[in-house]
Amino acid sequence: MQIRHLGSLAVSEIGYGTMSFASTYGEAPDHAEAIRVIRGAYERGVTFFDTAEAYGPFTNEELVGEALAPVRDQVVIATKFGWNINPNTGERGPGLNSRPDHIKRAVDGMLRRLKVETIDLLYQHRVDPDVPIEDVADTVKNLITAGKVKHFGLSEAGAATIRRAHAVQPVTAIQSEYSLWTRDPEPEILPLCGELGIGFVPWSPLGAGFLTGRIDATTAFEETDFRTGSPRFTKEARAANLALVDLLKTIADAKQATPAQIALAWLLAQKTWIVPIPGTRRLERVEENLGAATVVLTAGDLGEIEAAAAKITVQGARLPEAMTIRRAHTVQPVAAIQNEYSLWARDPEAEVLPICEELGIGFVPWSPLGQGFLTGKVDPKAGFDKSDVRSWFPRFTPEAMLANQALVDLLKRIADAKGATPAQIALAWLLAQKPWIVPIPGTRKLTRLEENMASADIELTDADLREIEAAASKIEIKGARGTGHEVYG
Ligand SMILES: NC(=O)c1ccc[n+]([C@@H]2O[C@H](COP(=O)([O-])OP(=O)(O)OC[C@H]3O[C@@H](n4cnc5c(N)ncnc54)[C@H](OP(=O)(O)O)[C@@H]3O)[C@@H](O)[C@H]2O)c1
Repeated sequence: MQIRHLGSLAVSEIGYGTMSFASTYGEAPDHAEAIRVIRGAYERGVTFFDTAEAYGPFTNEELVGEALAPVRDQVVIATKFGWNINPNTGERGPGLNSRPDHIKRAVDGMLRRLKVETIDLLYQHRVDPDVPIEDVADTVKNLITAGKVKHFGLSEAGAATIRRAHAVQPVTAIQSEYSLWTRDPEPEILPLCGELGIGFVPWSPLGAGFLTGRIDATTAFEETDFRTGSPRFTKEARAANLALVDLLKTIADAKQATPAQIALAWLLAQKTWIVPIPGTRRLERVEENLGAATVVLTAGDLGEIEAAAAKITVQGARLPEAMTIRRAHTVQPVAAIQNEYSLWARDPEAEVLPICEELGIGFVPWSPLGQGFLTGKVDPKAGFDKSDVRSWFPRFTPEAMLANQALVDLLKRIADAKGATPAQIALAWLLAQKPWIVPIPGTRKLTRLEENMASADIELTDADLREIEAAASKIEIKGARGTGHEVYG
């Protein structure tokens, strides 16, 4: 295995990500097997190992520390701080925490768990909008002076943040998602790394397994596997994204390699200071992945991949929505999220509303009247004009509307008791959810505008809200909210 340099840090040209032993991708093998695989990676030439206090939390660092103790002096161990994890208990609190005192305590825990005297590479896992990056860099600088840390890294940081951090404490490596299907670092971050002499470590270099060709639209994921909730791994997205895997297979066949090897070789070919850290729980796959180092991609191959990849539009956001919001917020504070939300489209409740609450972001429900359906003024038998988007929506077929009428009946019942209209109850229900929710009902009629505005005067008591909740929870909404590829809004 050749050596590459991340700044002044020498590492094997392919590293090893150990996160999946913390069950991110479903069940992990038992302890002894995990140790065997990590040591096996070292025996096969890997000298660069990646973990984080958040993996577990803590258990992954303990595992890596134990596995690498016999070869400690031969390897580079990277770990990360930054999530709001209780340094004593490992319990995860909401959000991030890069306050200097927290970083110092986190590092002491890491040293113990990793069984090392110094951390070779310490990354901030996510930029904390509440702590100036200069303070973070200065804290790491002091830890370096104290001998507890050797090198400083940042993960998923924006260009301006990297520059500011680098001015206080030189940054050795940036770790961000990068692969043939996630090319966000190319316009800004990679050029900046080149300019400042910072190394780059792509995480999920195999596209969380998708680029290996061993996943298709029919693959079932375990419940604990994060891909179950990832927009890029819905069945539809996978079916569409297979075009990229087909491209990798074509190149792989010509090179007598595997798609995973081509995906990694492509990364290695981008810059001499890029070191991918593929993760796998199986030793034979470690071997396969390391084989990428011997695959030579010529300028012609790279041009062919580039041209073919340019024609493929990758479907599905790479991260669940809450994570995307958090990342954007660290670069530029977000004032508001606008998503569909109403009594019949409650998806934001699971993830997006809690993150808005945590970060102080407002929420603007679009289609707060369920595209008109919740007003009780849509006649299920009337049908829609072809120019009306609802004519395409599964939720507006006559059968779906008939079934969904139960929700309108509920709104009517509450409205009658309050001397209001169903539309007003639908809007008052939204207003009652959070004081920072502002619905934007649309209408072409002034009388309806007045009707909608008057919802602000309706008070729904706790008892009303409980009644609505109880009744609504018994109603199963029929029909998907959109067609999945509609182009309206
Ligand atoms: N900084 C950050 O925020 C961040 C975020 C995510 C990850 N990371 C780091 O990056 C490392 C790598 O990323 P990742 O693990 O998310 O994604 P990845 O390396 O792109 O892919 C891992 C997935 O691919 C499968 N896989 C690996 N090699 C394979 C092969 N040759 N053939 C078929 N399947 C294969 C693994 O399953 P099996 O285990 O079943 O082989 C696993 O499900 C992590 O371990 C972690 O250290 C950092």
